[in-house]
Amino acid sequence: MASSSPPQPSPRGLPAAALLLLLLLLVLAPAADALACSSQNITNSTLYSTCLDLPTLSASLHFSYDRANSSAAVAFVAAPPKGEDGWVAWALNPTATGMFGAQALIAFRDAGVMTVKTYNITNTTVRESPISFETWDRAAEYHSADGTMRIYAKIKVPAGDPAKLNQVWQVGSSVTNSVPDAHALAAENRGAKGTLDLVAGTGRSPAPAPTRVTDPASGVSRIGEGSNGAFLVLTFAFLVSSFFGFY
Ligand SMILES: *[C@@H]1O[C@H](CO)[C@@H](O)[C@H](O)[C@H]1NC(C)=O
Ligand SMILES: *[C@@H]1O[C@H](CO)[C@@H](O)[C@H](O)[C@H]1NC(C)=O
Ligand SMILES: *[C@@H]1O[C@H](CO)[C@@H](O)[C@H](O)[C@H]1NC(C)=O
Ligand SMILES: *[C@@H]1O[C@H](CO)[C@@H](O)[C@H](O)[C@H]1NC(C)=O
Ligand SMILES: *[C@@H]1O[C@H](CO)[C@@H](O)[C@H](O)[C@H]1NC(C)=O
Repeated sequence: MASSSPPQPSPRGLPAAALLLLLLLLVLAPAADALACSSQNITNSTLYSTCLDLPTLSASLHFSYDRANSSAAVAFVAAPPKGEDGWVAWALNPTATGMFGAQALIAFRDAGVMTVKTYNITNTTVRESPISFETWDRAAEYHSADGTMRIYAKIKVPAGDPAKLNQVWQVGSSVTNSVPDAHALAAENRGAKGTLDLVAGTGRSPAPAPTRVTDPASGVSRIGEGSNGAFLVLTFAFLVSSFFGFY
C-alpha cells in the first residue's frame, strides 16, 4: 500500500491526512470493484475457467477453450456509459486488429428484451448480419446492481492460432430503432482491442474461483494493486494539490 504523502501538500484548511484518506476512498474503492473480474457473479460461471480484466473500458472477458471442438465459451462484461439504454460489444477479428473486419456480438435491450445479435463490421454503419464463424447458446443480460451488460456465447474459433486471436470490444450509450448508435471516440474506446490467448489458463480444469490473468497484449494489471495503485494515488494527490493551488 502506498505510504507516501502527497507531494507538496498545501491545501488550505484541509489536513493532509484527511486528504490522503479521501484520495484512497476515491481512487481505490471504485477501481478495485470495477475491474475485479474474479468477483463478478456471472451466470453458469463453471463454464468459464479463466477471466481477464481487459485494459480499457473496465471490461472483462471470462472464457474456456475446448480444444477438441475448436470452440470457446465466452462471457463478456462491460457497463454501457449511460446504463440500460446502451449497448456492449465483443468481437474477434480474423483479418485485422481493429474494428473493421470484426465479427461482433452486440448486446442491447431490443423492444424491452435483452438480446445479442451478430454483426459483420465493414464500416461505421452497423447492420445485423451473419458472421464468419458459428455461434450458439447466445444470451444477454443487464445487471442493474452494477450497471453491466453481459454477452454469453459459444463460438467456433476461427482458423489460425487460438493463442493469438485479435479481439475488439466496445460500449455505447444509445440504440435507435434496434441499431446501436456510434460509440464515443475517447482514448479508452479507441484502445479497446488486443490479442486474446484462448489457450492461456486452459491447462487446469474449470474451478469455482476463476484464474485471473493479465492481458498479455498490454501488460496492464489491476489498478488499485501494488505500484499501479501507488502511482494513481500520487497522480491524484498531485492533481488535487494543483487544484487547491488555484485558490
Ligand atoms: C449469483 O447470482 C445468482 C443468480 O442470480 C444468485 O442465485 C446467487 O445468489 C448469486 N451469488 C452471489 C455470490 O452473489
Ligand atoms: C445457463 O445454463 C442453462 C442450462 O444449461 C441454460 O439453459 C441457460 O441458457 C444458460 N444461461 C446462460 C446465460 O448461459
Ligand atoms: C461443437 O461445435 C459445434 C459447432 O461446430 C456445436 O454445434 C456443438 O454443440 C459443439 N459441441 C460441444 C460439446 O460444445
Ligand atoms: C457499410 O456496411 C453496411 C453493413 O454491413 C453495408 O450494408 C453497406 O453497404 C456498407 N457501406 C459501404 C459504403 O460500404
Ligand atoms: C462481411 O463483409 C465483407 C465485406 O462486405 C464480405 O466480404 C464478407 O463476406 C462478409 N462476411 C460474412 C460472414 O458475411
